[in-house]
Amino acid sequence: MIISGKELSARMKADMAAQVAEFPVKYGRVPHLVVILVGDDPASQSYVRGKGKACEVVGIRNTTIVKPATITEQELLDIIEGLNNDDGVDGILVQLPLPDHIDEATIINAIRKDKDVDGFHPLNVAALWMKQPCTVACTPKGIIRMLDEAGVEIKGKRAVVIGRSQIVGLPVAKLLLDRNATVTICHSRTKDLGAVTREAEILVVAIGRPKFVTADMVSPGTVVIDVGVNRDPETGKLVGDVDFEAIEPKASVITPVPGGVGPMTIACLMENTIECFLRKKQG
Ligand code: GUN
Repeated sequence: MIISGKELSARMKADMAAQVAEFPVKYGRVPHLVVILVGDDPASQSYVRGKGKACEVVGIRNTTIVKPATITEQELLDIIEGLNNDDGVDGILVQLPLPDHIDEATIINAIRKDKDVDGFHPLNVAALWMKQPCTVACTPKGIIRMLDEAGVEIKGKRAVVIGRSQIVGLPVAKLLLDRNATVTICHSRTKDLGAVTREAEILVVAIGRPKFVTADMVSPGTVVIDVGVNRDPETGKLVGDVDFEAIEPKASVITPVPGGVGPMTIACLMENTIECFLRKKQG
């Protein structure tokens, strides 16, 4: 079974649009998400456009602030400070990566925790690991939602996560653990990685290399979640981290690239923006 993140995210956005349509009467306005894009990286521009389009569909107000790659760290911090103090702004997202002269951790730390729709702020990360209320990072949240929607039982399963980033690998492992899976976190340099991945009943791959996971690394019946977004060096097409054609016949469930995890990330960003808005409005 191929899980369509595109379809599921479209349904989520339609449900959210119906919810947001009532906000002007209930709360006096709709949620407002501000996205900051630094520089002119085409991939980042495309992601930011996708976020803007999703806001339009859901009825969330979106402001995109575009700044040249030459902006100083202090100038960026000043913009964030202004948005932190603006009561009409509910969510702030700074598109990553940032130019080398800007320290990403400094920028992420500067965004107020309750406007951090990415769930990247250390206080949100800490709250996740302490099982306290928090904003959960969009991609991990979207992955769990897809598994639930596909009817995959997580409890009691052996899950293997390849990748240990703060954005995907670590939080998705924590969410799977909280749902009572037994989780192994490994990485691209794990010795005999295939021996580990063949034990997986749920395999999440977030490495960023085309065809990193080959068919011999996957046991029949595995649930395969591909978080990779890469350009195929030969065709130039968008591909994931797993050899989809070879693995799809073996997997019980698999996510395609494009149209799998990516759209779910954006739908969960919309959800996080609404959650930040409601937390403020409902106190
Ligand atoms: N760059 C790639 N993915 C993301 C994301 O989820 N959030 C932000 N802020 N930047 C990204």
